[in-house]
Amino acid sequence: MSRLIINGLKRLNGSAKVQGSKNSSLPILSAAVLCRGESIIHNCPDLSDVRASINILRFIGCKVSFSGGTLVCDSSSIRSCYIPDLLMREMRSSILFLGALLGRLGKAEMCLPGGCEIGTRPIDLHLKALEELGVEIRDDHGVFHCTAPNGLCGGKIALSFPSVGATENAMICACLAEGTTVISNAAREPEIVDLADFLNSCGANVYGAGDDTIMIDGVSRLHGAVHTIIPDRIAAATWMSCAAVTSGRVILCDVIPAHLAAVTALFENCGCTVTSSGNTMSVNCPYRLAAPGVVRTMPYPGFPTDAQAPIMSMAAVSKGTSLFIENIFENRYHHVNGLLRMGANIKVEGRAAVIQGVPLLHGAQVSAHDLRGAAALITAGLAAEGVTAISGLQYLDRGYEDPEEVLSELGADVKRV
Ligand code: UD1
Repeated sequence: MSRLIINGLKRLNGSAKVQGSKNSSLPILSAAVLCRGESIIHNCPDLSDVRASINILRFIGCKVSFSGGTLVCDSSSIRSCYIPDLLMREMRSSILFLGALLGRLGKAEMCLPGGCEIGTRPIDLHLKALEELGVEIRDDHGVFHCTAPNGLCGGKIALSFPSVGATENAMICACLAEGTTVISNAAREPEIVDLADFLNSCGANVYGAGDDTIMIDGVSRLHGAVHTIIPDRIAAATWMSCAAVTSGRVILCDVIPAHLAAVTALFENCGCTVTSSGNTMSVNCPYRLAAPGVVRTMPYPGFPTDAQAPIMSMAAVSKGTSLFIENIFENRYHHVNGLLRMGANIKVEGRAAVIQGVPLLHGAQVSAHDLRGAAALITAGLAAEGVTAISGLQYLDRGYEDPEEVLSELGADVKRV
C-alpha cells in the first residue's frame, strides 16, 4: 500500500501547468462511442478513471491508444452493448456509456456504476431522461436492460435537479435520436460545454450548452473529430489551496480563469491576491489567511462541491470561523476525521460544518476515503508542522495526474513511498 509522505510548512513558490479536466475527459470518451471513425483527444490526463474508461472502450470493441496526453479512439466497430460489472464498478462515470451505447446500438446492458462514496448517488434522473427519448428499461435485480424498440426519438427532458451526469447522458444519447430534444434545468458546468463542443465537431447539432436549456437536433450518424480537453478547474483550485496554506506565490498555466470565478472570489475574501492574464493565473497568499466565512456549494456557476474539501483545509488554518454548507452531496465530509487528527477544530452537523481556524496543524497518519478528500488531506499536510502520511492514494489517482511531481516542482517536500 503506497502512502504520500509530506513534510509540511514549506512555502510553495513557482509555476505549474494544470492538467486536462477529468470531468470533461470521461463524458467525451463515452461520447466517442457514437462516432463511426477515429477521435483524437488531446490534453487527456493520465488518471485511473481515464484508464477505467479505456478498459470499457476496449471491451466494447474500440481500438484505443493513449500516450503523451493524446488519446486516439477508433469506434468504427462496436461489438458489445454489454459492460461487465467489474468494469462498471470502477467509477461513477461508467454510467455515461449507457446513453452512448443506446445512441450507437439502440440497446445497452449494465449494472449500477461505482465511484467515490459521497452520498447515495442514484441514477434515477439519468434513466428518466433516457425514457423521454424512447428507451425502455428493465431493472433485473440491479442489471439494467435498456432497449429502444421503436428507435430513439427526440423528447422534452425536464430535470428536477441540474445533474451533470444526467445532462451529459441525455445529450450523448439525443445526438443520434430522430428529431429535436430539449433539456431544461440542464447543468451549466464548463464540462457540459466541452462535451457539446466535442459532439458538434463530430457532426452533432447541440445548441445552448452552458445555459439552462439545451437543444439537440438529432442526426443519423457522427464521425470522429480532433478535440482538446479544457483545463481542470478543480485541480487548479486544489493547487491554489495548497499555495494558500503555505503563504505561497504560485502561477498556474493552462487555466481558464472564468471557470474559477467563484473560487477566485473566495480566495480574495481570504486575503489572497489573484490576477489573471490569458490562460495564466497568479495567486499570492498572505502570512495568515482570513476565514472564508460562509461557503455554500452550488451547481455551476456557484461554488463547486469538488473544491469544498481542499478549501476546508484552508479554513482550518485561517483566522476566524467559517460555515460550510454542502448542498450537492449529502455525505461529503469524510475528510473531516483526518483534519481533526491533525488538530483542526471542526464540527459537522448534517450538511453543515463549522470550522474554527487554528494557527497550525500537526502531522499525523491519515487515510483518504474519496478523491477530493485526498486533496484536502494533502492541503492540510502542507500546512502542518511535522510529517503527514496519507494512505488511500487510489482515490487521489482517480483525479490528479502526478500530484507529487506538481507539488515538488512548486517546492513542497512530498514523496510517494
Ligand atoms: C459530477 C462530477 C463530480 C461533481 C458533481 C457535481 C463528473 C465525472 N463528476 O458528478 O465531480 O462533484 O458532478 O458537480 O463529472 N442525483 C440524483 N439522481 C441522479 C443523478 C444525480 O439524485 O440520477 C443527485 C446526486 O446524488 C447528487 C446531485 O444529484 O446529490 C448531483 O449529482 P450530479 O450532478 O449528477 O453529479 P455527477 O454527474 O455524479
